[in-house]
Formats: sequence, C-alpha cells, structure tokens
Amino acid sequence: MHQTEVLISSEKLQTRIQELAEEVRKDYEGKSLMLVGILKGSIHFLSDFARALGREEDELEFIQVSSYGAATKSSGVVQIRKDIDQSLEGRHVLLVEDIVDTGLTLSHLLELLSVRRPESLEIVTLLSKPEARKTQVPVKYVGFDIPNQFVIGYGLDAAEKYRNLADIRVVTNP
Ligand code: PRP
Repeated sequence: MHQTEVLISSEKLQTRIQELAEEVRKDYEGKSLMLVGILKGSIHFLSDFARALGREEDELEFIQVSSYGAATKSSGVVQIRKDIDQSLEGRHVLLVEDIVDTGLTLSHLLELLSVRRPESLEIVTLLSKPEARKTQVPVKYVGFDIPNQFVIGYGLDAAEKYRNLADIRVVTNP
C-alpha cells in the first residue's frame, strides 16, 4: 500500500481540461480531428477531453507502444503493439498522452507516425515533467507542469494499480 498526497484534485483536472478543449477548438475550427489516445495511461484524459471538445466530427483512435522497462526508456526505442486502425494521410492528428516524462516515447512515436503523411501532427498531454526531459519534444498543449515525482491516478499506474483514482497523487513512500 502506497502513501499518497493529492497533487491535482479532480476539480482542478476537469477545469483545466475544459480550458485545453477551448484552446484546441479554436485552433481546429472547421477541421475535424483524429484524437489518438496512447494506451493505457491516457484513457481517462482522452475520454474527458474528447467530451469537453464535444464535436461531432472528431474521431477516436488508439495506439499502444511496447514498454520494456528501463532499457527501453533510456534508448527511447519503442515498438507499436496496437496500431491506429486508420490511415493518417491528410488527417489532422492529435496525440493524447497522460504524461511526458523523459520525452523518449513521444519523440520516437512522432518519427514513426510522421512518415504516414498526416496533414498535421500535434501532442496534447495532461501532465509534463520538464525536469525529467532527455529529449525535446514539441508538445503543443500541456495541462500541468509538475515536479519530477512519482505520480499515480487518473490513468497513471503503479504496477497497473491506481489508474482509476479521480485525482493525481504523489506517492510519498515509493
Ligand atoms: C507512460 C506514459 C507515457 C510514457 C512517458 O507510459 O503514459 O506514454 O510513459 O514516459 P517518457 O516520456 O519517459 O517516454 P507507460 O509506458 O508507463 O505505459 P502505460 O501508459 O500503459 O502506463
């Protein structure tokens, strides 16, 4: 059992998600989006964010990349375990992520997806740890910058648990 402290309450998450949605709605006025959730951590954010956008024409897709633990994280080499079902060609694609930590997962994913010739390819992340970055990733929309601490809840796990907490918590006894 982990001891935790609330870092971002459910209310603050929901308020910020509405703000992000407003920004994205303005930027993509008249353009339908392909929202691509990166499994599994983005599941709750994608769900709330897509509904906050509330646009009929936007589509939902998912991608899952392999995680081989520390070795993968340091090399940044990821493999696609579950791919997006549709072609990206000519589409406005917005990758939806729960957290950008080192940035390695996303920078590799951007490389893999940009060759599929989307009309645009951008990233929205709920959380970002600027101090943990090992590579610069062009993240267009950031919900919250957070300190370099181990966080769980609202999609983020500790050994697959805690994903279903409504708020983001810091583990105080890792
Ligand atoms: C987490 C998170 C990002 C990635 C960020 O996924 O959802 O995809 O790590 O780390 P990075 O910026 O250091 O590359 P994880 O591999 O834990 O899988 P999960 O979403 O299924 O929990």
